[in-house]
Amino acid sequence: MTNPIKIGIAGLGTVGIGVVKIIQQNEKILQARTGRKIEIVAVSAKAKNKNRGVDLSKYQWESDPISLAKRKDIDIFVELIGGHKGAAKDSIVAAIDTGKDIVTANKALLAHSGQELAEKTEGKNKLLRFEAAVAGGIPVIKALTEGLAGNRLTRVVGVMNGTCNYILTRMQSSGLNYEEIFKEAEALGYLEADPTLDVGGIDAGHKLALLASIGFGTKVNFDAVELEGIGQISIDDINHAADMGFRIKLLGVAQLNGDGLEQRMSPCLVPATSPLGQLEGGTNMVMLEGDHVGQIILSGPGAGEGPTASAVMSDIIDIARGVRLPTFGQPANILKEIQPVKSNTYAPYYLRLSLSDKPGALAKVASLLGDFGISIDRMRQYAHADDHAPVLIVTHATEPKSIEKALANLPKTGVVHDKPVALRIEPL
Ligand code: HSE
Repeated sequence: MTNPIKIGIAGLGTVGIGVVKIIQQNEKILQARTGRKIEIVAVSAKAKNKNRGVDLSKYQWESDPISLAKRKDIDIFVELIGGHKGAAKDSIVAAIDTGKDIVTANKALLAHSGQELAEKTEGKNKLLRFEAAVAGGIPVIKALTEGLAGNRLTRVVGVMNGTCNYILTRMQSSGLNYEEIFKEAEALGYLEADPTLDVGGIDAGHKLALLASIGFGTKVNFDAVELEGIGQISIDDINHAADMGFRIKLLGVAQLNGDGLEQRMSPCLVPATSPLGQLEGGTNMVMLEGDHVGQIILSGPGAGEGPTASAVMSDIIDIARGVRLPTFGQPANILKEIQPVKSNTYAPYYLRLSLSDKPGALAKVASLLGDFGISIDRMRQYAHADDHAPVLIVTHATEPKSIEKALANLPKTGVVHDKPVALRIEPL
């Protein structure tokens, strides 16, 4: 039997305790699979005497995560503190400096400092693994880094924030507006301490930036992710989109588009009958598209104690087994610095307009769209009591900048009221 692999866990919140439970409850399975005992040596958290529902008495206690990271008797430093600076980053740096392998669930930290930390870790010939940082229990990092390693990736598409998917699907099932369902999600404890991380698309944007780096061999560039949250989505749009055969999702898309790397996290329409369209509640789904494999769809729980701890364990197990992989699938020092670009990929669009109900109004809009090369695929005008007619237009595939120009010019028609809504329909 090989020596035990010794770990230190910093952060005993939901995920940290989940990891302790798996190591305690599945001890024999883990040992059979790795050929080694996985041993927790020491743990660290803010409050020592809090009852966390698991027996921590056998582990050494460190009140400072940096002291834990520097201990000579651990092989793997497991960072589950969270946050993109402060204790999480400082303790990881201390662990790298003292020659540990690192496992983290920290998407924010990697999205901001992934390149720097990967170079530092690999410079020491150590590992930095982060399966739990993207889509919780779904083994998407492993799928991309290992299972699909033979492919040139063409696109990553995904719903990677369960809270937003919960809000959007609950709006649809209840008919209630965003504000009411936001409060419901808050009461259920689904929102991050800073809710804009969820509803502003930031958390999902972090995850997309990490997948894009592995998928396209590029340096993580979260700042280049075009972010748009779900706060502007109205129940009218949810209902009208459904009426036209679509669902609205906070969708992440990353692809190389000829000019550079496109990364966007924004509300999009997807066909209601597609797997992404049928995704309900807090579940995550990622579609990976490779030149030889075609499309792979992975779905499952994107958050929570068991699923996230399960993903942390897969990294610990890999390290215990002796699997040695660079952080982003290829050495950090050869990852490319690629030009970030706005989307120029053609797609159909959903437009919702409020038009004056008078002769020629629709003709003016159709003519303006035509001026920008936008062709109407389908159109519907809804019943109304006042002199503003709600009109929905689904366009044929259109260049995004044509839509932008048309939106900027629509007020000039003199027949459009309120701000028009334009949402991309992502081809799947
Ligand atoms: N808040 C995230 C979500 C989970 O709702 O999916 C952590 O990334």
